[in-house]
Amino acid sequence: MLKKIASNLINRKTAEELLQRAKTGSLKKSLNAFDLFIIGIGAVVGTGILTIIGTAIQGGPESLGAGPAIIFSMILAAIACVFSALCYSEVASIIPVSGSVYTYTYATLGEFASWIVGWVLMLNYVIGNITVGSSWCGYLTQLLKGFSSHLPSFIINFPIWLRSDFRSIYAMCDKYGLDVHDKMPFIFGTIPIAINLPVVILTLISTIILIKGIKESTRFATIMVCLNLLMIISFIVMGSFYVKPENWTPFAPNGLEGILMGAFIIFFAYIGFDAVSTAAEETKNPQKDLPVAILGTLSFCTILYILVALVLTGICPISLINTQAPIAAALHMINKDYMAGFISIAAVCALASVFLICHLASTRILYAMSRDKFLPRVLRAIHKKYRTPHIMTWCVGLVIIFCSLFMDLNISAELCNYGTFTAFIAICISVIVLRKTEPNLNRPFRVPFVPLFPILGILCCLGLMVFSFKQLTSSVAMFFTWITIGIAIYAGFSYKNLRR
Ligand code: ALA
Repeated sequence: MLKKIASNLINRKTAEELLQRAKTGSLKKSLNAFDLFIIGIGAVVGTGILTIIGTAIQGGPESLGAGPAIIFSMILAAIACVFSALCYSEVASIIPVSGSVYTYTYATLGEFASWIVGWVLMLNYVIGNITVGSSWCGYLTQLLKGFSSHLPSFIINFPIWLRSDFRSIYAMCDKYGLDVHDKMPFIFGTIPIAINLPVVILTLISTIILIKGIKESTRFATIMVCLNLLMIISFIVMGSFYVKPENWTPFAPNGLEGILMGAFIIFFAYIGFDAVSTAAEETKNPQKDLPVAILGTLSFCTILYILVALVLTGICPISLINTQAPIAAALHMINKDYMAGFISIAAVCALASVFLICHLASTRILYAMSRDKFLPRVLRAIHKKYRTPHIMTWCVGLVIIFCSLFMDLNISAELCNYGTFTAFIAICISVIVLRKTEPNLNRPFRVPFVPLFPILGILCCLGLMVFSFKQLTSSVAMFFTWITIGIAIYAGFSYKNLRR
């Protein structure tokens, strides 16, 4: 009996089965390496460099900051990504089907591992959207500040407990020595009440748009990517004239510990290059274009991020870096208000589109998991009129709203990082396993030095994860709770449902 269960847990879909599905799929093969690069940049450049960079430099409620030495953290995070990116490229070039690492794991490590990977991927797309939403709200607030003389006072003085979460309010009061009871109401004098209303409204709008169905437009995505890059490059160019090198000392205020913690936090800014591999089914020449696009995206982003970090830490002393909207706040500091306004408008638009895309992506992966019978059939019910998975879309929206009540920007980003590290580890293991189980598969792209490179990938990801456990007690507890809920759903529902 136990033997049977064990063999069921590692029940695999063969690479041929998946490839067959890709061949019979109706997706049009129209993307080239440049399109993939644009998809990569679109998925990677966002909240990380616009907001999370502030916490990585200055430190958060539970984490030490790297200071200007964040540039070393960025290089470290990029190195951790490179090994996994190579592994992604190998697996994606063998099995060019959509569904990302969830699907790959099904083919390599089997049913249980793929469920867990799919489940932790939800930390990226669903919980990660709380980070995107909070960052969006931060830039919206900066934008409104710019119009303070023209707007009614109830908007300018909108109570903080209606536009933030209770953790952020506690952290703010701690930092500035304020009384929390002046900032938010408490039930029975002990339970704080705070709700990020703009994020709730954004989530509801996104849910309704997705249910009505959006035509995914590559042109729209390209415009958003260009806007994003334009705003970041203008910050680098304009800000570089105001850099004061004395702000770079102390260079590493918290030493190696700060740099490693910074690497863990800023890792968020690199998440997303795997989106390239999810487009494999729609790529003209996946064997060649995927690795080029993934590695190109990573190199480009690392250089861009280092330049942003140098300028930001050169303009602002570390203690003055704003952790909600650091780029716009830095421009206010050097009196470039019109530029801060432009960046805030661009960030509000770009982050709203990232939010929508992540919401969409999460419903796609959950849809695949429900089609594979891991989740109840009812969740993939299709709306009669709009032909979209409306129940799934609502569920994701409600989870975002519910979790945003007790997760702040930092916790959601940290959880998202844990999810991604887990997925990366799975993909590195997959390469080693596939080389053993399917040695004769055609591998248009091969990771060099296997098993050394995948093992280095596993060690980098695991190392940063374990290192962070020491400081991030709240998110570590939530991460393990999330995994436990996942195992419970698998044991209580999916295992049996898969065998019906
Ligand atoms: N890397 C993505 C971002 O920074 C998740 O928004």
